Amino acid sequence: MNQNELKKLVGIEAAKYVTDGMIVGLGTGSTAAFMVKEVGRRVQEEGLQITGVTTSNETSALAESLGIPLKSIDEVDYVDLTIDGADEISADFQGIKGGGAALLFEKIVATYSKACIWIVDESKLVDKLGAFPLPVEVVPYGSEQLFRLFEKKGYQPTRRLTAEGEILLTDGGHHIIDLHLDVIENPVKLAEELTALVGVVEHGLFIHMVSKVIVAASDGVKTLEAR
Ligand code: A5P
Repeated sequence: MNQNELKKLVGIEAAKYVTDGMIVGLGTGSTAAFMVKEVGRRVQEEGLQITGVTTSNETSALAESLGIPLKSIDEVDYVDLTIDGADEISADFQGIKGGGAALLFEKIVATYSKACIWIVDESKLVDKLGAFPLPVEVVPYGSEQLFRLFEKKGYQPTRRLTAEGEILLTDGGHHIIDLHLDVIENPVKLAEELTALVGVVEHGLFIHMVSKVIVAASDGVKTLEAR
């Protein structure tokens, strides 16, 4: 099976956790899109009754096209279950997200969720985080100062650009600086350090936010639970 087929497999598997009456956080990215499509199919074909809370404009557009009823995160008390993709997951269930530039809304929705499931193909499982560049969402004003600070710290920053080579604007109207760290020895400490910087809106380290990870591998789908 190729990577796309694995993503589809795990997306369909995760959609089985969605049941009638739930408020469901709908993640962003190519893996989450398969889950959203399957939830949409169940809404249309099985009469599944749910309310979706999306994590990006891209997912809103997909969910609307599938007829999934939506509310914003501010219109609900809480989200029952959020299903989202991830860019890297370490053995202790910490993760990097934001490869699709949706980390801020993803983290907000995850924060107000009773449970979160991440869905990935096996290539995303790592021993230690950091090979995937860590996205940091920053306010445009003063972002060059932050960029230079990251350079001085040896974090090897790059600015996230669009396919056309323009500076990428997130759904929240911010910029993204990717940090090329190779290995993150202490994700909790780095998360605290980044959060404390003026101008940083959010970073892509998701610490203790997920209890279940569904992984698609060539030999089948595995569900991993946090210890
Ligand atoms: C979006 O900003 C990300 O957090 C995605 O969830 C993550 O990049 C995984 O995307 P893929 O499923 O496309 O690999």
